[in-house]
Amino acid sequence: MTTDLLSTPGDTSWFTNARFGLFIHWGIYSLTAQHEWGKSKRFIPEEQYQLYFDHFDPDLYNPDLWAQTAANAGMKYFVITTKHHDGFCLWDTKLTDYKVTNTPYGKDLLNPMVSAFRKQNMRAGFYHSLIDWHHKDFTIDAHHPLRDEPNVAELNAPRDQNKYAQYLHSQVRELLTDFDDIDVLWLDFSYPQFGEQGKGHKDWQSEKLYKIVRELQPNIVLNDRLDLKEGWDIKTPEQFQPRADITIDGQRVVWEACQTFSGSWGYDRDQTTWKSLDQLVRMLIDTVSKNGNLLLNVGPTGRGEFDRRAIDRLNGMGEWMRLHSRSIYECDGPPEGLHAPEDCRYTYNPQTNRLYVHLFAWPFKQLYLDGLAGRVNYAQLLNDASEIKIGLDAWVSGQTQGTRIGNAKEEPLVLELPVIKPDVTVPVIELFLK
Ligand code: GLC
Repeated sequence: MTTDLLSTPGDTSWFTNARFGLFIHWGIYSLTAQHEWGKSKRFIPEEQYQLYFDHFDPDLYNPDLWAQTAANAGMKYFVITTKHHDGFCLWDTKLTDYKVTNTPYGKDLLNPMVSAFRKQNMRAGFYHSLIDWHHKDFTIDAHHPLRDEPNVAELNAPRDQNKYAQYLHSQVRELLTDFDDIDVLWLDFSYPQFGEQGKGHKDWQSEKLYKIVRELQPNIVLNDRLDLKEGWDIKTPEQFQPRADITIDGQRVVWEACQTFSGSWGYDRDQTTWKSLDQLVRMLIDTVSKNGNLLLNVGPTGRGEFDRRAIDRLNGMGEWMRLHSRSIYECDGPPEGLHAPEDCRYTYNPQTNRLYVHLFAWPFKQLYLDGLAGRVNYAQLLNDASEIKIGLDAWVSGQTQGTRIGNAKEEPLVLELPVIKPDVTVPVIELFLK
């Protein structure tokens, strides 16, 4: 296995240090309170969808509060949907009337958001949909709300996908010009596997779009959904956890798992499949232990607030991060050859040479770590800096004389743990390596 990291055009150095970001899916679909794909999934006709536009008025929108909540959770960057698949734009774009400034709210949402998050020292990213179910030139395909109409061919005849691609390019140009130091660009998504019914790099004219992006912001971290073989900086597994580091042709790549609290990206009132705090903290740790980032999504309500359930979880993650963030920021997976024991994950900070053992299940007293005997100077619980003794206590070693402990060929490092699990979501032991 090679561990070389594939080098890409954008600057991912800050990104792999940050490890934890906030995704925000927000638009007029928040009023449907049923997932951001409603228009397509439920074949909502344009006139009916217009009702959400006509009633969009997030009067409680307070981006400072959002930014504070995210910063307290320990997030270091955010990515906002400037436009989702329904085509609705969150800023005062000159290229369409289908934008927030023409809704009852009447004001730009994007500039205040970027400023608020920057005030919290967070980096800013834009998610921009390649797909657009509102634009009159976007051809009807497998995902389009009009796909089941009897006269699709007729409806498609006047549509000119080239014109749409120009619109898409101009909007990306506008965004990356008006906001001249955006850190992440998330273009979503391609589906060439659907053939005639799908869309890919030809439909987006991705090569051209790519040039615009790099010309305007050469260092921007670009995702991988333009249907281009090269040029992207990050791989973006969605709603699942990879089993190990992500590699392409044997080379490790920078990656970011995007995850929801409840399965939906946009606000979904009646979703009940919310992940627990425990699960979310583990997800973050698991991601970093495989050299990835976690982009965790919130879908604000139509009034402009984070869902109570999201706030609870973000606060809980913040409490865990307050005590344990040094096992996350600037950390990677473990050095080559080290494998965490059962129910544990390793993260490692190469600068400080500290290895972190995250314990998903609390064992009884002894924790056996293979390959680390003689390599650790000092060990402590991270939540309260209480020393963890290394080596079996005298009585136990008497009992085990002549008996192998663990399965390793060489003796493992043994840590003596308190019987009671520390009162934190996931306890972490900090090992100061020699
Ligand atoms: C998908 C969905 C979308 C969501 C995105 C986030 O591609 O179409 O609704 O925005 O994933 O990764």
